[in-house]
Amino acid sequence: MLMPHLTVRQLPTLPPAIAQAPRLHVAIISDGNGRWATSRGLPRSAGHRAGAESARRVIEAAPRMGIHTLTLFALSSANWQRPAAEVQAILRLLQEYLLTETHHCIDEGVRLSIIGRRDRLPAALRQAIADSEAATAKGPRLHLRLAVDYSAREAIYHAACRFYKVTELSPQSFSTVLAEVHRGGSTEVDLLIRTGGEQRLSDFLLWECAFAEFVFLQKRWPDFTAADLDAAVKEFSRRERTRGALPDAIAG
Ligand code: FPP
Repeated sequence: MLMPHLTVRQLPTLPPAIAQAPRLHVAIISDGNGRWATSRGLPRSAGHRAGAESARRVIEAAPRMGIHTLTLFALSSANWQRPAAEVQAILRLLQEYLLTETHHCIDEGVRLSIIGRRDRLPAALRQAIADSEAATAKGPRLHLRLAVDYSAREAIYHAACRFYKVTELSPQSFSTVLAEVHRGGSTEVDLLIRTGGEQRLSDFLLWECAFAEFVFLQKRWPDFTAADLDAAVKEFSRRERTRGALPDAIAG
């Protein structure tokens, strides 16, 4: 029997736990590109290129899973310690991605933001970021945030410096200031996925992950598929999120 063609607007019903969280924010530490490449006798840059392909697949699949915000760790501020050629290769990939994917993002309703420092990025990349952000600003289906030259500690530090001058103190207004520092907003992470076998946060979204559920996978990022994302979201939907309160069954 032929399956009816599913377009992005004719979606299967979401599992109840996900349907109840209509603005699911999934953040991914996409680790393992280098090891994926070296295990195949390829240069590390080939791993990053395969990683960008993996990112494309995941970005396309995310809205079908109830994901409204997707944050991917593309380059950490700590990554400047790597050989310049590797960092340049990642920055080139990013620019290529922005130039080739912006129209696709517009068609798919994806709003793209870059979070992180921009002052150390090449001018052409900064321009590509500004153009892409402006062109996709009204995307309603998915807010894609790429973390580039990003350090959560540094973002929190800068927000704290700005906050010092504010008299109304509340955690909510701190989040607002942090969102300004990020530019791409600051929303609570629901699910944090890290590929590549390590189990740490590596200075990623420290504030926003306070109540996140974590899924750690051995799989390296270039091997990560939409089915893996779907499995992680289903795993998330089975978890009971109490945020320090009692589980429903005990609280009565
Ligand atoms: C971690 O793998 C990955 C990075 C530092 C770069 C991630 C870059 C991309 C996914 C490509 C850019 C993204 C887009 C959307 C264009 P690693 O190098 O730390 O791997 P290793 O731990 O095996 O060395």
